[in-house]
This record gives sequence, C-alpha cells and structure tokens, in this order.
Amino acid sequence: MMMPMMRAEEIKAPVLPHGAALQEVAKLANQSQQPNLFKADVTAAPAETEFVTGKKTTVWAYNGRVPGPLIEVQEGDTVEIRLINKLPQPTTIHWHGLPIPPEQDGNPMDPVLPGKELIYRFTLPEGSAGTYWYHPHPHEYTAEQVFRGLAAPFIVRAKNDPLKDIPERNLMISDLKLTPDGAIAGNDMNDWMNGREGQFVLVNGQYHPVVEVKGTERWRIWNATSARYLNLSLGGRKFTLVGTDGGLLEKPVRDLQTLLLSPAERIEIIVDAAGQEGKVSLFAEPYNRGKMGHVAAEKRIDIAAVNLLAGPSIAIPEVLRKIDDLGEAKAMKKMVFSEAMSMANGRHMMLFLINGKSFDMHRIDFISRLHETELWEIINNADMDHPFHVHGTQFQVVETERNGVRTPAPYRAWKDTVNVRRGETVRIKIRQDFPGLRMLHCHILEHEMLGMMAIQQVK
Ligand code: C2O
Ligand code: CU
Repeated sequence: MMMPMMRAEEIKAPVLPHGAALQEVAKLANQSQQPNLFKADVTAAPAETEFVTGKKTTVWAYNGRVPGPLIEVQEGDTVEIRLINKLPQPTTIHWHGLPIPPEQDGNPMDPVLPGKELIYRFTLPEGSAGTYWYHPHPHEYTAEQVFRGLAAPFIVRAKNDPLKDIPERNLMISDLKLTPDGAIAGNDMNDWMNGREGQFVLVNGQYHPVVEVKGTERWRIWNATSARYLNLSLGGRKFTLVGTDGGLLEKPVRDLQTLLLSPAERIEIIVDAAGQEGKVSLFAEPYNRGKMGHVAAEKRIDIAAVNLLAGPSIAIPEVLRKIDDLGEAKAMKKMVFSEAMSMANGRHMMLFLINGKSFDMHRIDFISRLHETELWEIINNADMDHPFHVHGTQFQVVETERNGVRTPAPYRAWKDTVNVRRGETVRIKIRQDFPGLRMLHCHILEHEMLGMMAIQQVK
C-alpha cells in the first residue's frame, strides 16, 4: 500500500475533561460453565462515546468499549471467542503475543468480512502466563481500526504466581486524535510517515486520570498506541521491573527511574510508595526516535497523576522464575529495515521495507523449521526507530549492536516486540512451535501498512 505526500493538517485540539480516578478496564464475562474453558462473543462495531463533554464521538469498539474488554484466563485454559464483524470493513482478531496456531491468530490472509462471524479457538500452553493484547489485523485497515478504538488487554495468569499477594492494576495506554468538534481525526502526512500520534494519551480510555497507590502495587502497562514511544517515569521515583511481554523475568530489576516502552510492548512493574510518598505523575519523558519531516520537538507528557500513599509494603522475591535458554541456533536470518521514496502516478510515496521489499500477501519471505532455534539479526538502516514484532511466539533478545559495539541483553526475558533503534542491530533467538504462516513487522501500524511486514513460513 502507498500513500500520497501531502501537507500535515493542523488540528486544533478540543478540551477533554480529566482528573477522575482511574477506572479498571471492564472484564469480558466467561459464558462457559465448563472448567478451563473461556467462551465469549466479541462484536466489533461502531459505538458512541463522549470524550469531549457534551459531544458524541463515534468510535469502533469491541463490545461497545474503548479499550475493549479484558480477557483474563489461566495458563492451560482453552479460549473460544466468536468474533462478530459489524464494521463496514473486513477485520480479524490478532492475539498479540500468544503462542497459538497461525490459523487461529487473525492473520491478514484470514479476514472476516462485514456482517460475518468467526470462532477463534486455542489452548494456552503451560508457561504462557503473561501480558498480551488483541487487536484487528486485516492489513489495509489495521491502523484505522486500531485508532478508531479496537484494541483490548489479554492476561494469562500463572498457576503459581510468586507475586500473587501484591495488588494489581492494569494501565492500557492508547493515543487519541480528535478533530475540533470531537470526531476521530484521520491520518495526515505526518502520521503516515512517523506513525500516528494524537493530542491525547489515554489510560484505560481516560485522559489524565488520577491513580492512588497505597503501599505496594503491581502494574501491567500496555503500549497500545500506534506509534508513541513511552519513555516512562514516575518523575524520579523508583520502581522495579518484574515482567515483560511474555511474563515474569528471572529476577526483579530494581531501582529503575525510566523505562522505554515502544509501541506494542508490555511491562509489569512494582510501584512501592514506601519511603517515596507524595504526589507525582506517570510521565513519558522525551525520547528521540528520529521522526522525519517537520514535527514539533519531543516533549515530556504527563500521562496520569499518581498519589503515592503510605500503606502495606510487600517485598518482591529475589527469584521470580526460571527462564530456559533457547539453546544453540541452527540457522540464521537477516532482516534489514529501510525507508525509501518512490514516485507513482506523479506523486511522491514513502515506502517502509524489509530486505528492500514491500509486503506482499502472496510471497513467502522466510522459511523456518518447526521447533528449531534460529538467530535473527534485525538491522535498522532506516532513519527512525522501528518496533519489531513477530507473531506466534516469544523470543529472547541476545544482544544489540551499535557502531560496532555489542551489548549483551542485561537480563533474560520473553519478548514478542522489541525496539530496534535507528542505526542499531538487534539479535534475537527465536523458535516457532506451530507450522504455518507467521507475520513479522514493524508495529508502527502505518509503517506496517506501507510495506514493513513480511511472511515467515514454518514447516
Ligand atoms: Cu500486534 Cu502483527 O501485531
Ligand atoms: Cu516502523
């Protein structure tokens, strides 16, 4: 897909109410009576909501909610979701990060047409506890469907959770761009080049809410924005990283003050008010991701007010779990990200490429053997950062290389999305355990749509 170059439209932002207590994302109710089976309907349809006081905004929503309802299950459970498409476009549900068969993963080659339904059914293997999400993936419409509101959290709980005594909070961060009269704005040139960023960063669908933390809390944070790099901080207060996309780390990483969460990544952190009580904020600190063209300088964003209050302090165990190494790599693959300009129909087009190619639904780009560990080298020759995502499995980052200097990953973690900074190479170990076709792509959804996606065949 290509897009014409045009001038970025200037949008005056409406005023959004803010300062309400953060609400939890509503849970999807389980319709099944059977143990270890989670069964429900998810309808994707236009709905009305009110972001600007007194003005209706038409969104596209799962079961009428933005974000969509949280699916919460346990490892070992079987999940059966009936997607009902009441949108004017084809859609799918992609289960971002879950280790499930490709036929159940909402690939762009399996669209559900307007007015149609599809049942997704899969079983979550032992060890798959983690923080995931679900969103549409019909290729031509992915970015639009997500920015209109289709995205929702998915949690797989562990049977034995070493942090089960710590109260939890979910923060799904999304991005909102409105026209002055409160409608969802379309993408302009700048959005297509750099990925869409709106005027508002939302948490659980709320603008600048207030979070009250009494003592110790475990936060799961989703970056469900199309393109916003969240260099998270609590304004200098300390927090502990305990989990990434695919669940808990081996050991907690303590005393962090900032942590970069690129688009589509998730983390679990422990926030402990003890000894650092007071009023702070959850910020996205400035981060230079190398945006192109004439855009405003990066600035600090105040996402939510956070009141750290004295309360019961709960210790974090020294060891969270054991993460096996993926073993020796039997094959290697190289993936080079680049950007290019082209002229078509007398217009300048921007292309985002993998190994010099633009995505083709009917082309296999990489072939891998089932159950075999591979070393992938993801090389970013482009002028901006790109968050790399691969479907169907969790991988381990081995090292990053910059200007010839190799830095080993500071800890072993399960990831399905990793940021590849411009000029940087990231090496990962990866193994696919289901045969079939898998997508790999930049998770800046506009880049994915403009070509930065490829197909891996596993056999
Ligand atoms: Cu969350 Cu292929 O995407
Ligand atoms: Cu990208």
